[in-house]
Amino acid sequence: MKGMVFTNFLEMVEERFGFVIADTIVTESNLPSGGAYTSVGQYDYKEMFTLIGKLHHQTGIPVADLCKEFGKYLFVKLVEAYPNFVSRVNNVFDFLGSIDNYIHIEVRKLYPDAELPHFETRLITPDQLEMIYSSSRGLHYLAEGLIEGSLAHFKTTATIVTAPMADGRVQFVITRNDS
Ligand code: HEM
Repeated sequence: MKGMVFTNFLEMVEERFGFVIADTIVTESNLPSGGAYTSVGQYDYKEMFTLIGKLHHQTGIPVADLCKEFGKYLFVKLVEAYPNFVSRVNNVFDFLGSIDNYIHIEVRKLYPDAELPHFETRLITPDQLEMIYSSSRGLHYLAEGLIEGSLAHFKTTATIVTAPMADGRVQFVITRNDS
């Protein structure tokens, strides 16, 4: 996993919970990397699960909620870093439909070692989009937070229904409720 994901995570923890908690979770996690992340470095994604688990112990907030909050936070940072990916489309379903066949493809060109998930997207009705997440990393709560961040960016209110599939993939059904 890219160092920028970790640096943004620790930045969020420090902003929301303070330096002491951020420092405590890094120290207690006993990470192979030592927790001294640089944005250009590459680290084992499992360190993210360790850090989130420790943050859960420190705050009592469920892991799923922490992951989703981080996804929303990360989305804002990704848009700051890559503004063109959001400005080329004008609605959230077109945007979400472009993650797998455009955005992550461009990301892969920039970072050949990026660990990216796959999404199969399908419009069920004009107001309902299905996204099926597949990744060996199981970061579907992060994906859900990134979807929530996308909805907020495009000022769209919607409900997201999540369903784990028998084969390990995760289905999201996003229903727009503002039109
Ligand atoms: C401006 C838009 C976006 C950009 C530039 C972007 C870029 C990236 C980058 C750089 C990574 C890290 C790869 C690594 O650590 O090796 C990543 C991972 C990921 N992205 Fe995106 N992304 C964007 C939007 C989204 C959205 C909207 C979703 C959800 C629908 C999403 C889902 C994910 C997930 C879940 C991962 C973690 C890896 C995994 O689950 O296997 N991304 N993306």
